Amino acid sequence: MKIAVTSASGKLGEAIIKQLIKEIGKENVIGIARTPSKAAHLGVEIREGDYNNREHFNNALQGVDAVLLVSGMDEPQKRIQQHRNVIEAAKQNNVKKIVYTSIIGDETGTAFSPIVQSNRQTEKDIQASGLVWAIGRNGIYIEPDLEYIDTYIKEGGISNCAGDGKCGYTSRPELGYAYAQILVNEKLSGEVYNLAGEAITQSELADFINQAYQTNLTYTSVSVEDYKKERVAALGDFIGTVIAGIYEGIQKGANNVKSDFTRVAGRAHQDPLEMIQNFKTEKA
Ligand SMILES: NC(=O)c1ccc[n+]([C@@H]2O[C@H](COP(=O)([O-])OP(=O)(O)OC[C@H]3O[C@@H](n4cnc5c(N)ncnc54)[C@H](OP(=O)(O)O)[C@@H]3O)[C@@H](O)[C@H]2O)c1
Repeated sequence: MKIAVTSASGKLGEAIIKQLIKEIGKENVIGIARTPSKAAHLGVEIREGDYNNREHFNNALQGVDAVLLVSGMDEPQKRIQQHRNVIEAAKQNNVKKIVYTSIIGDETGTAFSPIVQSNRQTEKDIQASGLVWAIGRNGIYIEPDLEYIDTYIKEGGISNCAGDGKCGYTSRPELGYAYAQILVNEKLSGEVYNLAGEAITQSELADFINQAYQTNLTYTSVSVEDYKKERVAALGDFIGTVIAGIYEGIQKGANNVKSDFTRVAGRAHQDPLEMIQNFKTEKA
């Protein structure tokens, strides 16, 4: 059984490939990357695959039994066609199964909603493909907050527009574990799964970071409008708006959903402190 993973040069693709190697051996795993040299360190066969290039995927998916499609990074409308390039090439190559990494979130009501909508369109395309399919909807990664700790310390704490909203954070290694199970376990086909950990507030997140890093962060809530202005100034229009929309969604409860992680993984999701401590150990 040969399993291919797209965006192999990215952090999620890498986490899935590392877990798949443990499950089925490196000779059965193929990484597909827009920039193959950036994935060479993974120790598996790497094939070229830019989502904009259907021809790449016609070649990259030859002899593949199952493919995991990592959601693209482009603006929402472009992503739909990019993902279709992979789905159509999978059909052409008689790939039996396709698994897609989607996102938890509301399709309307926040600046993040256009991205959620594009993910939902790809979910529909996957379900209509005629292939055996499975879909994971990812929670928010905890890693970016942890990579930001020095800034949080400088600024005296965490400040965003999530308010008291709860968010089921996850981590790329936890997602890697879950997606490897979805890929190898036939019983997990034909469903959409929420893949997230226990839902916590921003104040609780600050407390967990304080415990792990001996910091003294506090949480301050700001309005959606102010937060968006600040993020756009810092990160530019597209990413700034997306980030503000994510926290707006958390405030509105979009990330406080029932998780299917335990059913998929056969074990509980790591709790937030465990994820933070594991991240810290890995960086040390
Ligand atoms: N749940 C969350 O909190 C969260 C946060 C951020 C993103 N996401 C989503 O999760 C996905 C994966 O995240 P990540 O952690 O792996 O991100 P990452 O480490 O930034 O990697 C992004 C990957 O996307 C690849 N890529 C970008 N454009 C591509 C294209 N046209 N064709 C093929 N590959 C392309 C990049 O390839 P190169 O190496 O060639 O650039 C890279 O491998 C993202 O794409 C995004 O949709 C989720």
